Amino acid sequence: MGRKLLLEHINVPGINTFAVYREKGGYRAVEKALKSMTAEDVVEEVKKSGLRGRGGAGFPTGMKWSFLAKPEGVPRYLVCNGDESEPGTFKDRYLMTYIPHALIEGMIVSSYALGAHTSYIYIRGEMMPQIRIMEKAIEEAKAAGFLGKNILGTGYDLEIYVQPGGGAYICGEETALLESLEGKRGNPRIKPPFPAVAGLYGCPTVVNNVESIAATVPIVNDGGEEYAKIGIERSTGTKLISASGNIAKPGVYEIEMGLPVEEFIFSDEYCGGMANGKRLKAVVAGGSSVPILPANLILKTMKGEPRLMTYESLADGGFVSGTAMGSGGFIVFDEDQCIVRNTYNYTRFYRHESCGQCSPCREGTGWMEKILYKIEHGHGDMSDIDLLWQVQQKIEGNTICPLGDAAAWPVAAAIRHFRDEFEWHILNPEASLQGNYGLAHYADPLVPVTE
Ligand SMILES: Cc1cc2nc3c(=O)[nH]c(=O)nc-3n(C[C@H](O)[C@H](O)[C@H](O)COP(=O)(O)O)c2cc1C
Repeated sequence: MGRKLLLEHINVPGINTFAVYREKGGYRAVEKALKSMTAEDVVEEVKKSGLRGRGGAGFPTGMKWSFLAKPEGVPRYLVCNGDESEPGTFKDRYLMTYIPHALIEGMIVSSYALGAHTSYIYIRGEMMPQIRIMEKAIEEAKAAGFLGKNILGTGYDLEIYVQPGGGAYICGEETALLESLEGKRGNPRIKPPFPAVAGLYGCPTVVNNVESIAATVPIVNDGGEEYAKIGIERSTGTKLISASGNIAKPGVYEIEMGLPVEEFIFSDEYCGGMANGKRLKAVVAGGSSVPILPANLILKTMKGEPRLMTYESLADGGFVSGTAMGSGGFIVFDEDQCIVRNTYNYTRFYRHESCGQCSPCREGTGWMEKILYKIEHGHGDMSDIDLLWQVQQKIEGNTICPLGDAAAWPVAAAIRHFRDEFEWHILNPEASLQGNYGLAHYADPLVPVTE
């Protein structure tokens, strides 16, 4: 059994309440940090832990914290990103629903480390149950003296507010989130300046993902070095994975970084193998914005070694600019799934969610959707594949925020790994809409993928 740091007590009845969470050792990290550590000590432990942001980009959390500007007389803010609107990702919602105090405890420890006295949890507006749950958890923590003025008699003051979000995927991008939190339309800002210098209301701000913030609790409790012992290379600690698609046991799993992908999919401890005895065709390993990988490439690296659930291993192979670990939304496709239809579906989402500020994203997502619709509905011709490739190339790297990249990468990967499936749709127009090309890639031996 892999170690559990965040979900250890998930099955304890009443763990969503302050009383039971506390009984199980909750809020020890707050006591330890506020009573026996300086703010700098906490930052140091987080640096030592090697924790990388769990919101998608994987930026080292301790390093981000150390960039925070500290001008005299200017407030600093911690903003928790609970927008979680990436298709395939639902682990933050799970954590907030079942162990809300893990997030509150992490918020207190992190706010203390950053010298913030007002912090926000921004949760997507449609997640009303989670908004209510977090508000209740704040009330409980406050009643017990863990929030408000002079926490535990240490002289440290902190208020946490929950802010319902604008109900848009773009509001998860950190600067769009800050705009939205300030009451404006959620349009991403041009960076620099980065939020660490000029964030909420122009003040130094750290934006961190729900899971990143909750992970500071075991880091403070056990020490950063202990946390860093779990995992491999620059992928330390545990990671929450939202597993969905054609697997026997969809759900949220906490894995130790470094777990082989094959074990994650096929062992009973995690996904329990493919549903209904079907065969594996492809995986999107980190939420809809990361490239899709065919079965032969998700189980083994280009060198033929087992692929691991780490930032590094999931980036090996040159098929992706960033890392396919993303936000940990692990979507599994069986042999019956159509890659073209799936790509069309994602692209429709990105076209709808583009904020419209940047022409390459606003226009490009629309054009990609049109071309994919044409191919999927049996009206495509061969030149459309190259046109689609060119359009996605024009989007990547040419926008203010990475939503453009997020829209381009799935299309690029689908063409690169499943071009024959696109061709099949064009050559078989009458079968196209219902059709499924099948398992060509699964049958292949490990074929290195080249341009
Ligand atoms: C379009 C878009 C949507 C995003 N949505 C989220 C989100 O819902 N939750 C999140 O934590 N990060 C999201 N991010 C990443 C954030 O911009 C930011 O990197 C993250 O909140 C930083 O936290 P971390 O360092 O703890 O990962 C999104 C980024 C983009 C471009």
